[in-house]
Amino acid sequence: MRAVHRWPGLLALALLTVLALSGAALSVFPAADRLAAPQAEAGLTLADLAPRILAAYPGLEQIKRAPSGQITAYWFDGGTPGAAVIDPATGQGVASADPNPVERWLTNLHRSLFLGDGGRIAMAIGAAAMLVLAVSGAALVARRAGGWRRWFAPLRGPGAGRLHAEIARIAVLGLALSSVTALWMTASTFELLPDEAAAPAFPTEVSGETGVALGSVDLLRQTPVAQLRSLSLPYPGDATDVFTLKTDLGTGYIDQGTGAVLGWADLSGWAKVSETVYMLHTGQGASLIGLLLGVMALGVPVMGATGVIVWLSGRRARPRLRENQSAGKAETILLVGSEGGSSWGFAATLHAALTAAGQSVHAAPMAGFDPRRYGRAQRIIVLAATYGDGAAPASARGFLDRVAELPAAPDAPLAVLGFGDRSFPGFCAYAHEVAEAAALKGWQTLLPLDTVDRQSPQDFARWGRALGTVLGIDLALAHQPVVPQSQPLTLISRRDYGAEVQAPTAILRFALPKARLWHRFARRGLGRFQPGDLLGILPEGSTVPRYYSLASGRRDGFVEIVVKKHPGGLCSGQLMALEPGDAVRAFLRPNPAFHADRSRRPLLLIGAGTGIGPLAGFVRNNGRARPIHLFFGMRHPESDFLYGRELHGWQADGQLSRLVTAVSRGARPHYVQEALRAERAQVAGLIRDGARVMVCGGREMASGVAEALADILAPVGLTPVMLKAEGRYVEDVY
Ligand SMILES: Cc1cc2nc3c(=O)[nH]c(=O)nc-3n(C[C@H](O)[C@H](O)[C@H](O)COP(=O)(O)O)c2cc1C
Repeated sequence: MRAVHRWPGLLALALLTVLALSGAALSVFPAADRLAAPQAEAGLTLADLAPRILAAYPGLEQIKRAPSGQITAYWFDGGTPGAAVIDPATGQGVASADPNPVERWLTNLHRSLFLGDGGRIAMAIGAAAMLVLAVSGAALVARRAGGWRRWFAPLRGPGAGRLHAEIARIAVLGLALSSVTALWMTASTFELLPDEAAAPAFPTEVSGETGVALGSVDLLRQTPVAQLRSLSLPYPGDATDVFTLKTDLGTGYIDQGTGAVLGWADLSGWAKVSETVYMLHTGQGASLIGLLLGVMALGVPVMGATGVIVWLSGRRARPRLRENQSAGKAETILLVGSEGGSSWGFAATLHAALTAAGQSVHAAPMAGFDPRRYGRAQRIIVLAATYGDGAAPASARGFLDRVAELPAAPDAPLAVLGFGDRSFPGFCAYAHEVAEAAALKGWQTLLPLDTVDRQSPQDFARWGRALGTVLGIDLALAHQPVVPQSQPLTLISRRDYGAEVQAPTAILRFALPKARLWHRFARRGLGRFQPGDLLGILPEGSTVPRYYSLASGRRDGFVEIVVKKHPGGLCSGQLMALEPGDAVRAFLRPNPAFHADRSRRPLLLIGAGTGIGPLAGFVRNNGRARPIHLFFGMRHPESDFLYGRELHGWQADGQLSRLVTAVSRGARPHYVQEALRAERAQVAGLIRDGARVMVCGGREMASGVAEALADILAPVGLTPVMLKAEGRYVEDVY
């Protein structure tokens, strides 16, 4: 479905943008016409109106009424044709009947790109592409939201993709309608639809008289002006000619001597459908619908741009897999759960090695797990990274639910390889969860669970040998990690803390690198970032990045992180040795889950040690004086009160409402969770009234805080789990 959505979108992007923008601009005209046109008073009939116009223009040839209500008269005066917009109250012309040149230009662009029939066909192809995009897009939105019934459920995920889906779910119906109606109208232009003309046969017998008084003709007396489409008068001096009346109900002829109706044909059902289609597409006669569709069309360029961003970032994150078989044909199904993309690199190495050994392999994200499609699979291999607090990475979302829903385990046996980092307490916790869920289903194992620590090529090669043994092939996996694209960052200042408490810590401030426009747009490089995003640092001598939470945003004009030296730590050791003027290689990893949202609800920030970094960034950026309460734990105020001076300044400026510190060394040792308990009434009140909780720091501190909050919130009927489910309790822990 994604491929069906992607290719028409990319190929027809420019065409769809022209179609949508010109369509949106055109949608304004019917509404403007409706406002500008002098409207007929209620109950006015054609028998009232026609004599008024005839009195003003004795050479009258035709009266027309547009769906906007605008009435136009056409006449001959001494052999010269004339036309004017008529005020129905007087029958006099009040404005020029010439079509608006801008509208005409836009209409030509929208219909045919000024290229005649060739352009019409191109635009019809554009409309067909839009229809394919709308249908496939609707299916993708439903899948992302968790089903059709959850169409308007809150969406998560990174910016561009979420914005794309948010706009899609509002605009998709309108866009589908506009494209279906456009295709119908093109078919009608090229006469591919049945003939809709339903005029009665022209009368062969007439009275031969002329000069009936228009005000006395019955049919005109029965026809309200609101139903009029056109009234054509007989050719002067030709007694065989007749009045031709077209209304919303049908077409008829009237004798010019007696006023008798000489023939009538009702509008055919087919013609009614055609007219409804025309009305829905152009907004002529339904200007509000037109405007609504026009607004929806404005979403097309935005969806085009965000769609391209999503596509490009997907391509970047995933290496090219040569000869990736389709799911139905492959013997080996390789499922990848990755957040940062490095596991895809491992998957590519495995894919290439298996393919070289003569296997057919299909690689896909774990989120796309669907055993019904694996018709020929003989084995399923899962490569799964772990994120957050032992959580699933982005491309594995929903995998465990799908396993749980399976009626029975797939026949093909399973091997799980976890990717993680031993410095996290939940080392490869997600891979363990996957293996446990599979065992619970009775899924046969191909290989016992194994793990790869910090993207170690050696770990991977060892596992590869074990896999080769069970497959009966020689599998040498020589993985070359793909180093993320990074840029140099130059240190401009550092502030050192913590030496007295044996915890050397520094606030490092780097110069803001120049961002190319494209980087800003695509959120690549350090184009746009906020406190809470992650800065990946590539230490010398390693291809594996280490991540630090950013304490500044781009608009602060610098890049700031807080680093604590770990005994024997490669990256923290190099960072702590930096002097102003020195540079490191770094890249940005957006972390939207840990941004201070834009609401005005109070923030309850809780952190200890280097965890103060992003929290200080939120306070520094709190220009709108949103209430922020900060609980900060340190060892000793004399040695590691990070941002101490600024915090007091921000408090004085009103950017920080309250600062509560907890000191763990000294006369009365105190941890941040104890500070929370000491303020339990205020903390419970804040959260009950809607405050959002953001916790940053070490894992032990975070679990202590969660326990304390569970106790504090129990009396008000809330739990940290409930708040987390609502996105009102977020953590950035390490
Ligand atoms: C923010 C963050 C949280 C992480 N949490 C864990 C974790 O809880 N347990 C673990 O074993 N590894 C954790 N890791 C390490 C990653 O799982 C590991 O680097 C993995 O190789 C990344 O694969 P990917 O680039 O394909 O996403 C974490 C990494 C980051 C950046």
